[in-house]
Amino acid sequence: MKGEVRLAISTDADLVAARAQGRAMAQQLGFPRPDPTLIATAISEIARNIVMHAGTGEIVLRPFEEHDRYGLEVVAIDAGPGIRDVEAALRDDYSARGGLGLGLPGARRLMDGFQLHSDAAGTTVTMTKWRYRDELARARAERRRRA
Ligand SMILES: Nc1ncnc2c1ncn2[C@@H]1O[C@H](COP(=O)(O)OP(=O)(O)O)[C@@H](O)[C@H]1O
Ligand SMILES: [Mg+2]
Repeated sequence: MKGEVRLAISTDADLVAARAQGRAMAQQLGFPRPDPTLIATAISEIARNIVMHAGTGEIVLRPFEEHDRYGLEVVAIDAGPGIRDVEAALRDDYSARGGLGLGLPGARRLMDGFQLHSDAAGTTVTMTKWRYRDELARARAERRRRA
């Protein structure tokens, strides 16, 4: 599988489609269970935020390969009002609508990489989930991280 997929997001149906597409791509990339479901759930949360808080935006699903790992990058882009207090928005107890969703902090926990940029011109969330090519490489990286 090569190349990225870009999905316009403005309705609940769009976010359901983005969720399904993300799960399918994760499966095709070889992510074992439950990763495709976790990725799909994270996509669903940030796509829901586009619909609820920005109105319209885009989700880009981008498979990537590096020397010892590969994975899926998910970028959510909108030109909505932005998040005034990004730090607060990432806290577990923060949700303007008191919804049942996992929200931004939940999406962050489900993924390996999570970046949030927001200003008055809009919001961009970049999330990554990766897989190591082999166990040896994984163990090496684990040691590096702990060192
Ligand atoms: N794309 C976005 N554009 C503008 N504001 C956003 C966006 N995503 C999140 N927010 C703000 O960050 C807050 C926290 O988001 P989230 O954790 O998903 O909780 P919830 O959506 O349930 O309120 C939202 O209440 C909203 O104020
Ligand atoms: Mg939300």
